[in-house]
Amino acid sequence: TQYTTEINTFHPDSAAELEAFRIRFLGTKGLIKDLFDQFKTVSPEEKRTLGKTLNEFKQLAETKYQSLKEQLETQPEKTALKDDLTLPGEGFQLGSRHPLSLVRNEIIDIFKRLGFIIAEGPEIEDDWHNFSALNFPEEHPARDMQDTFFISKKSPADSGEAAGDIALRTHTSSVQVRMMEAGKPPFRAIMPGRVYRNEAISARAHCFFHQVEGLYVDENVSFADLKQTLYHFVLELYGEGTKVRFRPSYFPFTEPSAEMDVSCSICKGAGCQMCKYSGWVEILGCGMVDPNVLENCGIDPEKYTGFAFGMGIERITNLKYQIRDLRLFSENDIRFLKQFQTEI
Ligand code: PHE
Repeated sequence: TQYTTEINTFHPDSAAELEAFRIRFLGTKGLIKDLFDQFKTVSPEEKRTLGKTLNEFKQLAETKYQSLKEQLETQPEKTALKDDLTLPGEGFQLGSRHPLSLVRNEIIDIFKRLGFIIAEGPEIEDDWHNFSALNFPEEHPARDMQDTFFISKKSPADSGEAAGDIALRTHTSSVQVRMMEAGKPPFRAIMPGRVYRNEAISARAHCFFHQVEGLYVDENVSFADLKQTLYHFVLELYGEGTKVRFRPSYFPFTEPSAEMDVSCSICKGAGCQMCKYSGWVEILGCGMVDPNVLENCGIDPEKYTGFAFGMGIERITNLKYQIRDLRLFSENDIRFLKQFQTEI
């Protein structure tokens, strides 16, 4: 039994140790050979029981040796490493920040320096915070099933507002509503976060993307403040000499509304694929907060005014790094991600 336990608990660290085991138990001058030699001298009655035990013991040592040998053969590198302690260790693969995180942090830094704080909210939103409070008319096409991932929808039989609908937020403007409802002006905050839209996935569209929206509400906030803030932001992000232009636009929650273009930082206005040969790339939507929205959130629109803006981080990143396929951001392809390693 003493030997049985020894065999059962034997774990060699190297091929050499296993060989020592073989010689000790199974070798031509080994323990088992010795036991069988002694066996010849015992009485015939004893031979019957002892023979069985002896054979079982031999069997045990042989199977153990065979299986350990196979184990060492299939893991040669493990054995080699254990044997040769002078070998260098395995290198660690260095990770890197995701390009979207890099750009998001850069955007946050710029607005932080202007006194904007960061606000966050839930990705699963109700109709009120995502649409109604933001002045979306009941029949606005953006509420349509094609753009919004609804989680639960109130049946038409239910009376009253559509406030019962629950959806994945389609923009982080919902966080603006939450912020205004919960506090008192002045507000100066940016809202980074993931948003969802029911779009077919292609190089130019995805079912989710990332936004940074901003809100500034106080007494006497004007369109001039909006323009200067966003102009400053663009110069910080894309460098001195970048030009901007504002085009009139429409959003239910801002009036007046605009879209802002920047001069293409890739071709410097000469016309390239990135700006579709126009020299300009649209990067954000903005406008003065509609008085209806302020009122919906319990803020006196006679006393306060404000501006808001919203941009897609993917688009800003595309322009910065000349990335032409949105899908790269979510495919986790190490060959893509590795290229941002030095940017940490
Ligand atoms: N919420 C808008 C969007 O998702 C962006 C925006 C924000 C526009 C604030 C104007 C003002 O497209």
